[in-house]
Amino acid sequence: MLHYKELGLVNSRELFQKAVKGGYAIPAFNFNNLEQLQAIIAACVETKSPVILQVSKGARKYANQTLLQYLAKGAVEYAKELGYSIPIVLHLDHGDAFETCKSCIETGFSSVMIDGSHHSYDENIRVTKEVVEYAHQYDITVEGELGVLAGIEDEVSAEHSSYTRPEEVEDFVKRTGVDSLAISIGTSHGAFKFKVKPGELPPPLRFDILEEVEKRIPGFPIVLHGASSVPKNIVEEINKYGGKLEDTAGVSEDQLRRAATSAVCKINIDSDGRLAMTAAVRKVLAEKPGEFDPRNYLGPARDSLKELYKHKIINVLGSADKA
Ligand code: G3H
Ligand code: 13P
Ligand code: ZN
Repeated sequence: MLHYKELGLVNSRELFQKAVKGGYAIPAFNFNNLEQLQAIIAACVETKSPVILQVSKGARKYANQTLLQYLAKGAVEYAKELGYSIPIVLHLDHGDAFETCKSCIETGFSSVMIDGSHHSYDENIRVTKEVVEYAHQYDITVEGELGVLAGIEDEVSAEHSSYTRPEEVEDFVKRTGVDSLAISIGTSHGAFKFKVKPGELPPPLRFDILEEVEKRIPGFPIVLHGASSVPKNIVEEINKYGGKLEDTAGVSEDQLRRAATSAVCKINIDSDGRLAMTAAVRKVLAEKPGEFDPRNYLGPARDSLKELYKHKIINVLGSADKA
């Protein structure tokens, strides 16, 4: 057992309490490799923001779970080296089963998500409670989910979303003992969220559901998945340099800003980072076809990712200067 405290990490409990009271959200950025991790840490140190480093089951498979664990340890030291120590949570994103969560808990994660949203209500409660009981023995925080988001989450893919039913949240939270709850209010995973006609805006989030949830579990930490905004300029840049992404829209940053001032205290962003990196790599390779040193295209990708994250922290989540 490698406990997260040995790696210098923290769980999410205190961060969430402060975020709910302070009307901001903690960034939860996914990483799979060194450059993404460097960009996240540099952006959070420069803006003095706490951060949740998210690792999906796919990321563990891609990067190797042992390497990821030591990258997270390195992240704590790297932040100090950059001049400011920030609270860092290492979180399993979309844990699919008790065994996956247990394995993360035993290898240095400080927080896990058990995503039982695709199960029946009773099975969701059963598996979530099982993870909570195990995780809490080690002071590890647990995120559960009620309601289904459309899109791909690791090996689980849902074509249609179903909104969270506010009448279930109180019972779910009480019976499972979860520390935070992901809800479905109109966001979806991936870069292809909404098709909108020129001049139109994507459909608004269901703030009525969020408000109803808040009424039933006041002050309880709420999580928003699928919160990429799919910036138009980045999609255009990708297509300008040889990409072929269809026209699409994400969740508007205004809507996210509004959500962040509520009990939503964790906002998950992955796809926007993927788009930013892709645009930067394509630009370098298109402008310099003779380039073959990975540092010369992954370096600019890292820079552009860092800028994107700083923008999210300062202008969307409001978590700057909260570390
Ligand atoms: O919600 C899913 C995250 O964006 C992680 O994606 O499973 O492809 O690593 P992934
Ligand atoms: P996006 O695909 O909108 O970035 O959502 C990421 C996410 O929810 C990770 O869990
Ligand atoms: Zn998600």
